[in-house]
Formats: sequence, structure tokens, C-alpha cells
Amino acid sequence: MLDKKIVDLINLQINKEFYSSFLYMDMANFYTDESLNGFANWFKIQTQEEYAHAMLFVDYLQLNGEKVVLDTIQKPAIEYKDYKHPLVAAYDHELMVTRSINDIYAAAFDIKDFKTMQFLDWFVKEQAEEEQNVDEMVKRYELFGADARALYMLDQELGQRTYTPPTLTL
Ligand code: FEO
Repeated sequence: MLDKKIVDLINLQINKEFYSSFLYMDMANFYTDESLNGFANWFKIQTQEEYAHAMLFVDYLQLNGEKVVLDTIQKPAIEYKDYKHPLVAAYDHELMVTRSINDIYAAAFDIKDFKTMQFLDWFVKEQAEEEQNVDEMVKRYELFGADARALYMLDQELGQRTYTPPTLTL
């Protein structure tokens, strides 16, 4: 059993994680259309990670005997202006997700739900890494993006990224 407020917030979080997966797929598609297949690969892996995050929240509710309530997933609706735009939008999106995780953590703290706080600890750390990774992408693009040869090499490097499943086990 979990407190209803925590269940509601986690159900909202499930939707946000699935939306994140959708959003990053949309960004991957943008780069594929622009023939930047390495950037596309990097975002496709983000898509997988976000799906895995959603499933961890699903599993957490179900392991606690709570009902998962799925809702409509918003359509990604960003018109990307240039190659840098998705990177900045991804960074802003991760900041929003961090705030959302922090809100669940604060709600759990208020009612002394230490079990949920312990579960969320992994996400707090994960968000710090995600913010750092996307911030680094923005900075590297700013450094190298204007030079065609450097952009090609960056794209090649991002094409090497492989998916690693979450280290959190429930
Ligand atoms: Fe699941 Fe990138 O937050």
C-alpha cells in the first residue's frame, strides 16, 4: 500500500516518462531526416532509457499492490530550427523531469514514506547524470557544430553509443 497522493504522482510520472520516450524519438527522427545518424542513434537510446524509466515506475506501483492508470501521451510538437535546437530542448526537458521527481520525493518526505524515497534515490542520481550528459552535448555542439569536419566526427562518435539497461532492480 502506498499513500494515494504518491500513487497519483507516480502515475503522472509514468506518463511523463513515456512522453520523454516519444519526445526523444521525435528528436531522433529529426536527425535521421538530416542524415546525422549518430545524433539520431544517441536520441534513440534516450528513447529506450525513458521507456525503461516508465516501466520502473509501473513495476514499483504494481509491486506495492497499486493500480497503474495510463493516460494519453502528448504529441511532441517542436519545430526544430537547427541542429542545436533539439539538444537545448532536451536539456530543458530534463530539468522539468528533475523538478517532477523532486516533487514526488518531497511528497514522500512529508508523509515519512521512506520506501518511496529510497526507490527515488536512483532517479535523483539518474537525473543528475541525464542533465550533465545533455548539457555536455549542448556544449560540444557549440564548440564543434559550426565546423563540418568536426560535426562529422562528433556524429560518428555519437553513433557508437549503445544502450545499457537501468542498474536499479526492484
Ligand atoms: Fe526519465 Fe530523462 O528522465
